[in-house]
Amino acid sequence: MTKNKTIIVSNRLPVKIVEKDGVYELSPSEGGLATGLGSIYKTGDNVWIGWPGLEVPEDRQQEVTEKLAELNLIPVFLSNEEIYQYYEGFSNEVLWPVFHYMTTYANYEQSYWDFYQTVNTKFADAVEAHLHEGDTVWVHDYQLLLLPGLVRARQAHVTIGFFQHIPFPSYEIFRLIPWREELLAGMFGADLLGFHTFDDVRHFLSAASKLSTSKYANNVITYNERQIVVEAFPMGIDDDKFERLADNERVSAHIQSFKESKQGSRMILSIDRLDYSKGIIPRLQAFELFLHLHPQYIEKVELYMIVVPSRDTVPQYKELREQIDQLVGNINAKFRTLNWAPVHYFYRSFPIEFLSALYRTADVCLVTPMRDGMNLVSKEFVASKTDNRGVLILSEMAGASKELNDALIVNPNNIGEIMRNLLQALNMSEQEQEHRMKSMRAIVKKFNIHLWVKNFMDKLNEVKEMQAALLTK
Ligand code: G6P
Repeated sequence: MTKNKTIIVSNRLPVKIVEKDGVYELSPSEGGLATGLGSIYKTGDNVWIGWPGLEVPEDRQQEVTEKLAELNLIPVFLSNEEIYQYYEGFSNEVLWPVFHYMTTYANYEQSYWDFYQTVNTKFADAVEAHLHEGDTVWVHDYQLLLLPGLVRARQAHVTIGFFQHIPFPSYEIFRLIPWREELLAGMFGADLLGFHTFDDVRHFLSAASKLSTSKYANNVITYNERQIVVEAFPMGIDDDKFERLADNERVSAHIQSFKESKQGSRMILSIDRLDYSKGIIPRLQAFELFLHLHPQYIEKVELYMIVVPSRDTVPQYKELREQIDQLVGNINAKFRTLNWAPVHYFYRSFPIEFLSALYRTADVCLVTPMRDGMNLVSKEFVASKTDNRGVLILSEMAGASKELNDALIVNPNNIGEIMRNLLQALNMSEQEQEHRMKSMRAIVKKFNIHLWVKNFMDKLNEVKEMQAALLTK
């Protein structure tokens, strides 16, 4: 008999296949979800079902399946048309902009929706093929909102958890989506629905009560005579991993080379995926204003800006990339001196050792998204600061701002405020840095990724017991 297992399902697997001269290689996936859950799925008989990141021709699917099986990963293969319509289209041109309150970016194409349904069904087939009695299915994120309902329709009693890694918008925003009722009905297939913050929970409950036949009391929804619990589970990180990197030789070597190239100037750090929700343009504008109004910092500070390529086939992302190139070029042209450039811009991904060295070296980390479900970069920066030095500037629109109260909290649209906080950060006394960093580090340590998984799973079991008790009443 096989042991009960957890089947994690997300659009993207934690590793992606990349093709180099006809050879398939594995490389880590970008983004909060893959980073956050990366260390969890390897335990026991658990498996992770998801898309391997590119179209794999039929005659090579077996090879990829075998390669991934060694890592407990199960691929769902998508054609280029499916990738275009379901992933780039519905997921990233409808749900992503609307859920991040950028509704003018949304493109409500009927064919996107048709493919979203087809591909969610494809995922349901993959889940069904691996599901045994007693297993738990844990579905992740906005690309698979219909999946809980589809799995429930095939297996009425299966245990399903769903966690959304991006914000859930207010009802007035969510109602704009033409297929809003169907999306909610899909989510109602879960037993437990998790979001990062209480505001997301509140927004979801309000949308559910206005757009469906469900009823709710406290945080329990009754829908089709089933009980569904909705709760906030702020996601944490693997803090130990970042602390351990402190002793890594490669990290030390990078730190040394940063120190040499910086020649004593202070480092401001910014790390994001390429995304309009991350507030990269206003952040650059704030830095430009800072140099303009405080020229005494010329040759004294440098902005290291890492932008990790992402979704660059989606038109708005392409445009954003061009805007960043242009603005960085302008700032550097305007302020650079013979031996110094204000912005060091990298458009690529880096190994964790390089990022860890940046986190450890940076005097200030600027995290100013327009909207962000959680933002794990802010937590990674804090966890890396084992010397309790450094200042985090954090947008009030990031879920993390609800926990990291000792960051300097800013409105990401207020360029003047970001600039003033930058000035404050660069002048903050060591005692104050230490005081703030220590309290944030304690939070990141306590509410880490392990506790997050445990809390979610414990709650899911509790919900199942509650449902069973209600049935026997
Ligand atoms: C965010 C989302 C994830 C997504 C990641 C990377 O973190 O919450 O679901 O996987 O971005 O985006 P991508 O489109 O490359 O998967």
